[in-house]
Amino acid sequence: MARTRAIRTVHTVAELRAQVRQWRAAGERVALVPTMGALHAGHVALMTEGRKLAEHIVVSIFVNPTQFAPTEDLSRYPKTLEADLDKAETAGVELAFVPDATEMYPPGFVTTISMAGPALGLETDFRPTHFAGVATVVAKLLIQAQPDIALFGEKDYQQLQVITQLARDLDLPVQIIGVPTVREADGLALSSRNVYLGQEDRAAAPALHRALSAAAAAIKRGGAIANSVDAARAHVTKAGFHIDYLEARHAVTLAPVSSVEDGPVRLLVAAKIGATRLIDNLAV
Ligand code: PAF
Repeated sequence: MARTRAIRTVHTVAELRAQVRQWRAAGERVALVPTMGALHAGHVALMTEGRKLAEHIVVSIFVNPTQFAPTEDLSRYPKTLEADLDKAETAGVELAFVPDATEMYPPGFVTTISMAGPALGLETDFRPTHFAGVATVVAKLLIQAQPDIALFGEKDYQQLQVITQLARDLDLPVQIIGVPTVREADGLALSSRNVYLGQEDRAAAPALHRALSAAAAAIKRGGAIANSVDAARAHVTKAGFHIDYLEARHAVTLAPVSSVEDGPVRLLVAAKIGATRLIDNLAV
């Protein structure tokens, strides 16, 4: 049986709005941390940052079906609600919004947000409908909760740029904050999908961060971007990954870059090891 907690869990938009409205009417700031659950230290970092910027933190927990392709891991996505509520409560979250699929997508729902700009290429080349699902659910969550700020991890860097652009384009009255990636001691970026890694793949997985770090250092020393990216691809492949993409992009627009003269550079990778697909990125 679920134990009694200080964190309040609500399942409807009406309850969410009523609470947030009450806080904001008292002149208190509200931060939203949208998640799909399976919370880890990376999510806790978002909540901790939120606490510095707002009086109240709301976490949403919703495994959004529309951002998964039919071939992807929706049904086996980890569901750990009780543990998630414990972690959120410990991190100072007061309200958890845990809608079911019908609350988010009632019968007759037909709207999808379609984006170009930072949503083009990279993930979209491999998951063509992913960002339409993310943009639509995040727009809904921001409109439902009406927070002052919303926090997202830099781990999903393309997602962060997509959401920043979305909020700007739709004039959503919210400040989007990106929070640096939390890593294991060996450099592996924390992800809810790391639980899928077998022992051997887990041991090989830090190669992603090692390769990006070496490439970023080489580019900073004046090395050509193309050569540094090629060396990173070779390192990641040798470690046993199958690469979807490993590229240097403009850090804000995510347009391809060939030199540091083209603007701030971000290295981004997605690669599979065994059956698990990991993503990571690093600033140059
Ligand atoms: O990053 C995630 O967990 C999800 O993509 C998000 C932003 C909660 C939307 O479902």
